[in-house]
Amino acid sequence: MDLSAIDLTTEVVRTQRLVLRPYRPDDEELVLRACQDPDIQYWNTVIPSPYTRAVAREWVCELAPRERAEGRGMPVAVEAGGELVGSSGVEFTAGVLGPAIGYWIAPWGRGHGYAAEAAHALAEWALGLGAPRVHLVADVRNGASLAVARRAGFTQEGVLRSGLAYRDGSRGDAALFSRLPTD
Ligand SMILES: CC(C)(COP(=O)(O)OP(=O)(O)OC[C@H]1O[C@@H](n2cnc3c(N)ncnc32)[C@H](O)[C@@H]1OP(=O)(O)O)[C@@H](O)C(=O)NCCC(=O)NCCS
Repeated sequence: MDLSAIDLTTEVVRTQRLVLRPYRPDDEELVLRACQDPDIQYWNTVIPSPYTRAVAREWVCELAPRERAEGRGMPVAVEAGGELVGSSGVEFTAGVLGPAIGYWIAPWGRGHGYAAEAAHALAEWALGLGAPRVHLVADVRNGASLAVARRAGFTQEGVLRSGLAYRDGSRGDAALFSRLPTD
């Protein structure tokens, strides 16, 4: 990816309904509220548990801005109608899989196809900057997320057997999806 022409610390991606923007300190309250959701806690296993106010503050004020500033990725707050409705982002993971796209949508924002719209736009963004491919993984049991990946134009390439670590120490299978510039 050629990031030389953009300032990753301020980069915003816009879609018909969404603004995918950098996190702000005032996002703390809604991020904290959203991450209490049992489904987000269950499926987004990289998110700390319990999800405290200190964790939310560190994410919006330090970790997310630093990921951008250090050029490791572009976490975005997903905003619809001026309100934070979810989280998404592109991690510039090295290796054969290409950059990784992830997402969660807050309970108050679900049912509108926002995750697919965000994932689609971020894939376009990364591919437009020269990424040869982008990928996303979803638990094979997460029907909603599998539907999001397909809706976002991703193609399932296979299953990463035992690819996911669960909070209880067990592991599960992940569906691997990708998008190419030619898709
Ligand atoms: C998965 C998630 C991101 C989808 O949010 P959303 O954008 O509001 O999705 P929608 O409710 O608009 O539904 C998207 C699609 O999933 C389908 N869907 C929704 N719930 C479903 C379910 N329980 N099982 C199967 N399909 C489901 C919808 O029918 C829709 O399909 P379509 O695009 O073919 O019409 C959101 O529910 C979420 O954050 N869940 C908890 C955390 C999570 O799963 N994160 C993803 C980890 S990989």
